Amino acid sequence: MKRILPACLVLSLLMWWPPNQSFAQADDMENNFTPANPPELKPITSHQTPAYKAAKNFQHGVNLGDYLEAGRWGLKVDADEFAAMKREGFDHVRVPIGWHRYAGAAPDFTLSPEIFSRVDFAVTNALNNQLAVMINIHHFDAMDENPTQATAEFLKIWQQIAAHYKNFPAALAFELDNEPHDHATTELMNPIYAQTIAEIRQTNPQRTLVVEPGGWGGSGELKNLVLPPDDNLIVSVHCYEPFHFTHQGASWVGADFKQTGIVFPGPPTTPLQPDLTLNPKNYVLNWIEKYNTLPAKKNPSGPVAFAAKLKYLHDWSDYYGRPVHLGEFGAIVNADTASRANFYSAFRRACESENLGWCIWDWSANFRYWDKKNHAPQPGMHDALFAKKP
Ligand code: BGC
Repeated sequence: MKRILPACLVLSLLMWWPPNQSFAQADDMENNFTPANPPELKPITSHQTPAYKAAKNFQHGVNLGDYLEAGRWGLKVDADEFAAMKREGFDHVRVPIGWHRYAGAAPDFTLSPEIFSRVDFAVTNALNNQLAVMINIHHFDAMDENPTQATAEFLKIWQQIAAHYKNFPAALAFELDNEPHDHATTELMNPIYAQTIAEIRQTNPQRTLVVEPGGWGGSGELKNLVLPPDDNLIVSVHCYEPFHFTHQGASWVGADFKQTGIVFPGPPTTPLQPDLTLNPKNYVLNWIEKYNTLPAKKNPSGPVAFAAKLKYLHDWSDYYGRPVHLGEFGAIVNADTASRANFYSAFRRACESENLGWCIWDWSANFRYWDKKNHAPQPGMHDALFAKKP
């Protein structure tokens, strides 16, 4: 699963954001914001909507990755880890869930009591520790392969989740679908989202709902999003730039991202020698050349890789009157400790200055914040996320 999905992620990233053009595109995005969504997406002028009020609870979050979405019972999480999240300074937890793996046959797609009891454990422990919580449907491949066919199951799953949690506090939000991609384009998802929102509203009229555009929740797809005139919707976007740094050597990415030893921010003190056994493509060699030579301010392994995107999210959010949440960003533990801390610090500060809530990937898996063995954050990570000054 993991191996297939992120390889596609890499492809789709390259399709709309070729690394050798990133500077030109970043410059473009620094110009004044021009609204480009279909006219059916009506701006909401008030920033006092229920969505903006809810977004205040979703500012500094952590993803419980590799837990309930993993396709097996993944990592174990103890109740006291939710207290640790709160103590560390997080205000919310996003819980990715593979509900579809525990659904019965069509036409009812009945969810097993077991998945509900596992999700209840996470949700109630989060809420009991004054953490807001966002639950979603994660890695629902059938939707990405054939959205039209998968809609019936998607709706049935949401009907059941909505009924189960209808009396839960407002601090529980539902995110409809993680990273739609491939055939689940934004254009195809727009009406499916509208239908799902209408369905959920029958039992949860006040619930905050979270919607991601296609292209793996990519900021480049926001311009195609159309939302119903519902004022309790948050838009969520994912960003793993600079990908050569954040995914270096990850087992689920292609050869282009297997080069390790990349620091953040570049340039490195000793130039990185490309690993020629990986047969690096020209654009990878170009990237490494820029990484080795450009000053930190312009270096592709630096804030320039995401700054313009985050500014665009801010401008889009302001114009359309929809709070935007940066639902996933992070760097794998293959990167050195100091670089990871530099990266998380720079990224979350950029989000904060653009008024975007953020949620790191992840709590205790491959991009971990928490060292489960020592019951402590990974070195440098607490300050990276929560220190006031850099
Ligand atoms: C996926 C994870 C992956 C992470 C970073 C998430 O969206 O669900 O499986 O580890 O992205 O690539």
